[in-house]
Amino acid sequence: MKALILGGTSGLGLGIVTSLEKKGYHPITLSRQKIDSVSHYKCDLGDIGTSLEAFSRIKRDHSSLDLIVCVAGYVSPTNLENQTSEVYDQHIIRNLGYVDLAFDFFKEVLRDVSHPVFVTIGSRWSLKTGCTELLPYIAAKHALRLFTQQKARINPWLKINNYCVPQMHTPASLDVRKKLLEINPYKKQKVFDKDLADPTAIASSLITHLLDYDNKSGVYSIHQTGKIIRNGNKP
Ligand SMILES: NC(=O)c1ccc[n+]([C@@H]2O[C@H](COP(=O)([O-])OP(=O)(O)OC[C@H]3O[C@@H](n4cnc5c(N)ncnc54)[C@H](OP(=O)(O)O)[C@@H]3O)[C@@H](O)[C@H]2O)c1
Repeated sequence: MKALILGGTSGLGLGIVTSLEKKGYHPITLSRQKIDSVSHYKCDLGDIGTSLEAFSRIKRDHSSLDLIVCVAGYVSPTNLENQTSEVYDQHIIRNLGYVDLAFDFFKEVLRDVSHPVFVTIGSRWSLKTGCTELLPYIAAKHALRLFTQQKARINPWLKINNYCVPQMHTPASLDVRKKLLEINPYKKQKVFDKDLADPTAIASSLITHLLDYDNKSGVYSIHQTGKIIRNGNKP
């Protein structure tokens, strides 16, 4: 069985790759890093042209895919007065745009397998309010959640889940914290969870939930402890 992980070389994506390998999947990864492996494709998902080129190469090299996980995200903390439409566009393109592109591109490949699965990654931050510096990110993750729900509704043949993950100890998240504190040191108490979750443990909970339980397509929230609840239910 083959799994394509868009953003599978660090942070949560790397954890997902490890968990999928333990379940017997052959992972195919895509990210901006250059990695010397026939199963890795270098590409910036913020660029439609190079994304389509990489997707074509993946389709040519792998005639079937059982599972696709869209992990890569983008967040750039910005003061309210600097949140131009370009800033919003970048967040939409890099959190939702590439997912939409991948869904359309690989949909027919997924149709050929017996239990096709498509996963998007949201944020528990996008379920909260109180951080104006992250509004473009929060809006993009909200749109991604809606996208996932709509695709689930019109494609009952496909299991399609959105997982809203907690704050984790990843290189990208530490960078965001640094930038956020540069903009507004007071934010520290207001928006940061006390404990950062381990991305390997969160990935393991996500993959177990996705593959070992016969749950319906939907939006799920992952707690810092790894506990997963369907969106709308209290933890
Ligand atoms: N970490 C947190 O605390 C946290 C909290 C809530 C939600 N999330 C969400 O969880 C997901 C994973 O977050 P993460 O912290 O592991 O960091 P991330 O920056 O999304 O990195 C995950 C993977 O995506 C790749 N990637 C990022 N941007 C890319 C691009 N433009 N093109 C191609 N590949 C790209 C990275 O490799 P390269 O950098 O080499 O390209 C890496 O392999 C994201 O969707 C994020 O929004 C994270």
